[in-house]
Amino acid sequence: MKKLFLTTIAIILCGTISRADEGMWIPALLQKNEAEMQAMGMKITADDIYSINHSSMKDAVVLFGGGCTGEIVSDQGLLLTNHHCGYGWIQKHSTVEHDYLTEGFWAMTPEEELACPGLTAIMLKNMVDVTEKILFNVTEETTDEERAKIVKENIKKLVEEMQKETEYEVSVESFYQGNQYFLMYNEVFKDVRMVGAPPSNIGKFGGDTDNWVWPRHTGDFSIFRIYKDGQPYKPDYHFTISLNGVEEGDFTFVFGYPARTNEYLPAVAVNQEANVVYPVVVDLRTQILDIYNKYQEKDAKVRIQYASKHAGLGNGWKKWMGVIEGIRNFKGIEKKQAFEEAYNNWCMQARNRMKYMHALRDFTPVYEEYEKYRMATTYLTEAGLSIELIDFAANFAKLADVTKDTPQEEIDELINDLRQETTAFFKDYYQPIDEEVAVAMLTAYRAAQPEDFRPEILNEIDTKFKGDVKSYVDYLFGKSILISEEKVVAILDSFKPSKAKKLAKDPAIIAVNSMMDFYVENVMPKSRECTNRINNLRRVYMEGQMKMIPEVYPERNLYPDANFTLRVTYGKVGGFKPKDAVTYRHFTTLDGIMQKENPDIYDYVVTERLRELYDTKDFGRYADKDGTMHVAFIAGNHTTGGNSGSPILNANGELLGLNFDRTWEGTMSDLIYDPSICKNISVDIRYVLFLIDKYAGCQRLIDEMTIAE
Ligand code: ARG
Ligand code: GLU
Repeated sequence: MKKLFLTTIAIILCGTISRADEGMWIPALLQKNEAEMQAMGMKITADDIYSINHSSMKDAVVLFGGGCTGEIVSDQGLLLTNHHCGYGWIQKHSTVEHDYLTEGFWAMTPEEELACPGLTAIMLKNMVDVTEKILFNVTEETTDEERAKIVKENIKKLVEEMQKETEYEVSVESFYQGNQYFLMYNEVFKDVRMVGAPPSNIGKFGGDTDNWVWPRHTGDFSIFRIYKDGQPYKPDYHFTISLNGVEEGDFTFVFGYPARTNEYLPAVAVNQEANVVYPVVVDLRTQILDIYNKYQEKDAKVRIQYASKHAGLGNGWKKWMGVIEGIRNFKGIEKKQAFEEAYNNWCMQARNRMKYMHALRDFTPVYEEYEKYRMATTYLTEAGLSIELIDFAANFAKLADVTKDTPQEEIDELINDLRQETTAFFKDYYQPIDEEVAVAMLTAYRAAQPEDFRPEILNEIDTKFKGDVKSYVDYLFGKSILISEEKVVAILDSFKPSKAKKLAKDPAIIAVNSMMDFYVENVMPKSRECTNRINNLRRVYMEGQMKMIPEVYPERNLYPDANFTLRVTYGKVGGFKPKDAVTYRHFTTLDGIMQKENPDIYDYVVTERLRELYDTKDFGRYADKDGTMHVAFIAGNHTTGGNSGSPILNANGELLGLNFDRTWEGTMSDLIYDPSICKNISVDIRYVLFLIDKYAGCQRLIDEMTIAE
């Protein structure tokens, strides 16, 4: 019996060990992967991708706007990223007369390129392993608290010291949960201008309906330019563009800035994430989105007002549904448990491995304790603060606290900020939606959180409103003055400290204060304590895994979780089978856009101009050899949020497209990767060039690119 059990474990594990395609690799250490990459088809070297001795591809990849990736495609600093990454800037530059979101934007001359104050592009210049320096004075005997202090001080000292010697910005980043540290040298570009964007019905085609979904037809790109000293930046490297497209099985790699993954969590943590927290978040957001939908369908103005709120909530909502299903279908928890069995066996082979075994064991009680606080936080943010009035009231809590001793400057500044918040809030506010959301969310909040562990205001619904949520909501919206723009503006215009007391009695401010007080007093301290303990355990468990995996699974390469530093990931182009009897091809074409076209459905409107080009088949050199216009393709690259806009490159390191999404069946790849269903979605560079050239007629941009045919 025992033997049988062990073989089952071995079989389950086999599936998880030789995970080709898995991994987000540190570019400075890419030599390790070179042989495998070349065996998979790569024709260049690791040194071509990352070098500090000569120009290399890393000199053409930037962290765009602090959350996305961009790549340089000309010797004039021309930069490509996703439409959804440039979205905020396209919106900022839009007015009623020039609605670039709707119409698109094309700078036909350099003078028309638009400044974007505040937008940055950050380029990695060098990274150096400084683990020894950061962990200097940390010993086996050092306690967790001491260690945290020492590490913090060592980082501060090193950064100060190194910063004096360089023009670049230096920082220290932690890898493998604090088991390795790198000193990073970054060049920060602060003059980045907007050059082009397709209309939203191309750049966002399919909208939230198609988000995370394959087959996909989104022209998700926008164009910027880096300037330095007022001139277009001359980079050390820019990508050559390939017009050859992709075939099933082709080698590709993605070079960019993945934000966060958690591949080394214990089973208890994955279970809490996927089976406890996400289902609640998904359920709450389903209720909210249903309410949004109902009103958005009825009224065109409301549809626009709630479009971006809908997109914000919907993005995570859909992804987490994919994570929940993926973990279940792929038996993620069972696989983690089987791994832990093997890990424990390894630990038992030597006395000095006991601490690793204890770390894994100790997760369980901490996570059990943490759950209560985690859920309290989840209900606060996902239910309580989803009520827009309450979230808005949070801005006013400070003003309601003002006394006659508060300096006038401080009050003026507060009022100034509140004026802006107020304009922005009412521009996109529709009270009937919010009232309905309030009833749904407060009902769910009360049902899920026990009476002795919830904000006072939720209990007052019993003591003052006979337990009737609706009548509390009627009172809240009926009495709060924060519901009226006119009244809010009047208060801001004539505010005096003596009026603060009255403001503090506003039911919306009472509600948000009740929720925040509860959180600060009863949730946050314990929650922090738990996460500190979890982080310490994760560090030790990671250290254990870093020793165990090379011994027990020598064929498996270890890579650190994503942490917003530059990474390389590689995999092959290919379709997949998402479920029984369904097979996905690896690319989509313009035909699919025409099939989806529906002038009555906002997400599927096709412009006249695009249809014309389609009808006349005017694809020029951007057509595939099969004669069609390819729009998007999927491949097995291990990507995550932050990789949006990343270059996807071929065996020669030429640009094939821009990464912009994953298929939702595989979104569990942030926790556990499975090559059979985890695929990244990219827009084909030929579609991008076709749009710039044929659709927009912005030939000057094509002319400055280097194109290999
Ligand atoms: N799912 C992609 C990401 O995680 C794209 C999001 C933007 N697109 C959208 N239709 N909401 O960021
Ligand atoms: N759209 C995501 C982003 O903005 C990338 C998709 C993913 O999570 O892989 O970074």
